[in-house]
Amino acid sequence: MAASKVSGGLKAAMDDVKAKGRWALAAQFSFLVVSAVTLCVLLYAPRFSSAPAPYGATVGFFAPKPSSTSRTSSSAVQLGPPEHGGGGGGDADREGGGAPEQVLDNQVGSPCSSLPNHAICCDRTDYHSDVCFMAGDVRTDAASLSLLLFPPLAAPGGGGGAAADTATVEERIRPYTRKWDGYITKTIHEVTLRSARPEEATAGHHRCDVRHDAPAFVMTAGGYSHNLFHVFNDGFLPLWLTAQHLRRRVVLAALAYNPRWAGTYGEIISGLSAYPVVDLLRDRRTHCFPGAIVGTRYHDYLAVNSTRLRDNKTVVDFHRFLADAYDEHQDDSSGGGKPEATPPPPRRRPRLGIVSRKGRRVIENQAAVAELAASVGFDVDVMETATGAPLSATYASVSSYDALVGVHGADLTTFLFLRPGRAALAQVAPLGISLLSRNLFGVPAARMGLRYEQYDVSAGESSLSRRYPAGHVVVADPARARREQGGKEWDLVEHVYLRGQNVSLDLGRFRETLARLHSRWKEQQQSQVSGADALPRQ
Ligand SMILES: *[C@@H]1O[C@H](CO)[C@@H](O)[C@H](O)[C@H]1NC(C)=O
Ligand SMILES: *[C@@H]1O[C@H](CO)[C@@H](O)[C@H](O)[C@H]1NC(C)=O
Ligand SMILES: *[C@@H]1O[C@H](CO)[C@@H](O)[C@H](O)[C@H]1NC(C)=O
Repeated sequence: MAASKVSGGLKAAMDDVKAKGRWALAAQFSFLVVSAVTLCVLLYAPRFSSAPAPYGATVGFFAPKPSSTSRTSSSAVQLGPPEHGGGGGGDADREGGGAPEQVLDNQVGSPCSSLPNHAICCDRTDYHSDVCFMAGDVRTDAASLSLLLFPPLAAPGGGGGAAADTATVEERIRPYTRKWDGYITKTIHEVTLRSARPEEATAGHHRCDVRHDAPAFVMTAGGYSHNLFHVFNDGFLPLWLTAQHLRRRVVLAALAYNPRWAGTYGEIISGLSAYPVVDLLRDRRTHCFPGAIVGTRYHDYLAVNSTRLRDNKTVVDFHRFLADAYDEHQDDSSGGGKPEATPPPPRRRPRLGIVSRKGRRVIENQAAVAELAASVGFDVDVMETATGAPLSATYASVSSYDALVGVHGADLTTFLFLRPGRAALAQVAPLGISLLSRNLFGVPAARMGLRYEQYDVSAGESSLSRRYPAGHVVVADPARARREQGGKEWDLVEHVYLRGQNVSLDLGRFRETLARLHSRWKEQQQSQVSGADALPRQ
């Protein structure tokens, strides 16, 4: 119950983390940190060249060959006599061992889905991430950043200790979703999972300082945590995918814990877990759990593949999870007097939010675009970014929009806050990054049941047409310009198309996009009146 939130000594560590992150980025790509949200567009670089691929192992830039990572090294290890007399320890399709004590693994067909009690199982079959499960008496060992599995407390002195005679099982894992990305993976702390040695089990070492009655969920608050796309794509969505079926009965044990993370995402964190977060690196006490999950599943860019989940959850359920997290929080802060999620009052005009970026990929004629949208019939809200406003404020704005419009960038991750089956996302794709834009936000938004429009800017609408002479390949044929760079393709994308470009939208052409959004909204209003407003199914 008394898990801790350590607050002392964090600043130095945070600065250290920041400094290291900046150094590494600066050294590799020599650019300056600008702001938390616009930082790190390069982070999805490794896979930018992927086609609009289905789920699975699409190999992108810098990624290792699949053969080196797709090898199965999963192990379903049984230590000692199985509780339920089941046989065949280590067999992926072990069956008939009786009901497992806890279903920690929610993935269909996983080698770890029928974990017997007192066992460690790692599933390393996925291209993106490894995930391990422990069932039994799990205790932390802060000094070695380990989780130790103790034998069941059976007949002391007798055969009970026999379990520990089994060769010590040891697994090591860096819990993050980009195991193909060596650059970031080596910044993730490595956790060791092993069975306690006989002398540890008998000598009364590792007495529990804190006992939890829910399993630990070891995860990291680090990784690419300064970029909203990655915060969701590699953080919260995978966390939810992996543990939502436990309905908050899981204790987050965080690596790289920091108050900024806990503060910025507090509502989401308490949506995932009903307990205080354990700061795994700084809390020296021995925490004891009835089991553990280490690492997360990953399905695709901002995706939930319902066929891989036992309970068939979809990304619409993830949206509902976010909505519950933020709506509940609003209730709390307003004294709890608010009734449940109030349906928005009937409006004459639909609401449209324009994401206002700073520094790069700016809409130069944003004021004119806002006027245009108003003239088409929208109530327009210009959404400033990188203001330091809490994410709950962003949630409140975006969830009220009927349409969200913005240039490609991490802020568009907030499409997750739009109402599925009702709202629309219109993404402006600058020159040279049309496919990247579609893959990162367009495809996921459509999967969530949003209407998706992509507005690909033409050469004349890009500020690059002022920097390069007319007809230059960079503006005239970005696809060819990229191909011609060969191995340096990413440099061109990064320095020119992502960081060196603003847009000035052609108002005549953009009006067509806005008009489509508006007439679709009107049709919807009519169909709602006639009662046909079911959510789309995935
Ligand atoms: C979802 O996962 C299943 C099983 O892994 C896979 O066959 C299917 O292609 C995936 N769905 C999509 C939309 O990619
Ligand atoms: C999930 O979908 C499968 C296949 O359609 C179905 O057999 C199963 O009952 C569903 N499970 C739940 C929990 O809805
Ligand atoms: C884009 O616009 C911003 C804000 O006006 C400006 O600071 C930046 O220099 C512009 N970038 C380019 C490449 O024109």
